[in-house]
Amino acid sequence: MDLGLSGKNVVVMGGGSNIGRAISLTFAGEKANVLIGDWDEQQAGKTAADIKKLGAKGIAVKTDVTDWDSVQSTVKKAISELGSIDILVNNAGWALDRLFIEKPRDEWEKEVGINFWGVINGIRAVLDHMIERKRGAIVSIGSDAGRMGEYREAVYAGCKGGVIALTKAVSREVGRYGIRLNVVCPGLTPGKPEDSGEMSLWRGEEAAIFTPEAQERAAKAYPLRKLGTPQDIANAVVFIASDRAGHITGQTLSVSGGYTMM
Ligand SMILES: NC(=O)c1ccc[n+]([C@@H]2O[C@H](COP(=O)([O-])OP(=O)(O)OC[C@H]3O[C@@H](n4cnc5c(N)ncnc54)[C@H](O)[C@@H]3O)[C@@H](O)[C@H]2O)c1
Repeated sequence: MDLGLSGKNVVVMGGGSNIGRAISLTFAGEKANVLIGDWDEQQAGKTAADIKKLGAKGIAVKTDVTDWDSVQSTVKKAISELGSIDILVNNAGWALDRLFIEKPRDEWEKEVGINFWGVINGIRAVLDHMIERKRGAIVSIGSDAGRMGEYREAVYAGCKGGVIALTKAVSREVGRYGIRLNVVCPGLTPGKPEDSGEMSLWRGEEAAIFTPEAQERAAKAYPLRKLGTPQDIANAVVFIASDRAGHITGQTLSVSGGYTMM
């Protein structure tokens, strides 16, 4: 099936490392142009260079998704450099697994800022442009934690649940303008060190929690008995963002080996 993405213009927030990088490169493989908004300029630049090798436009812009002015300015830059935005992917995310009662307030605030405010900012920033064009697709990366309430991820899970509800509510409001919003929820999807920038989850304290033994234990909880890869997530995102999914909106799709079924 031809996804019809050739020449489309895509913004991927947090598109430098791992899942975001796979999403950016998969769009580029379909000959879509990609602007990456990431606070890790170096890693975003590396991914943008790899996009260009696939024959698409690849642009990296330093962006902090928690900062409304920064998100607005990245969206303006995407419109001026690419001409339009057909698709926005809100992929930036962050978590640090700890029991709720042991977590310091600054970690909650960082989680809410990136995982919930980041998505609110991204969606709001592209809507005027998409309403004017009477078309657009927005895919936000949730998490199965947001569907089932994961142990040691209380505030992160709350944010991802919020992303699901926000997506449903906004899709009811803007469907009349031909704009679709959906959520793709990964399960545990280990990143590779070579695809992880300095600011990636897979470089920090969180990565140390998911040792190979912990990953093996997690895989046993999945009906397919294996963990996901960034490419598994990217395949679902690219399809649901494409016009081939043109009658799908307000939905949440788990890509997690059957971990959640709802
Ligand atoms: N990997 C998993 O196991 C898993 C599971 C469920 C959900 N998710 C979700 O998938 C998404 C990607 O996860 P990942 O594992 O690839 O993480 P990652 O940390 O490797 O990549 C996240 C990217 O977002 C960028 N980023 C973080 N904060 C930012 C900010 N404030 N502004 C701009 N960019 C920012 C980082 O620089 C990085 O490039 C996240 O939304 C995460 O919550 C991941």
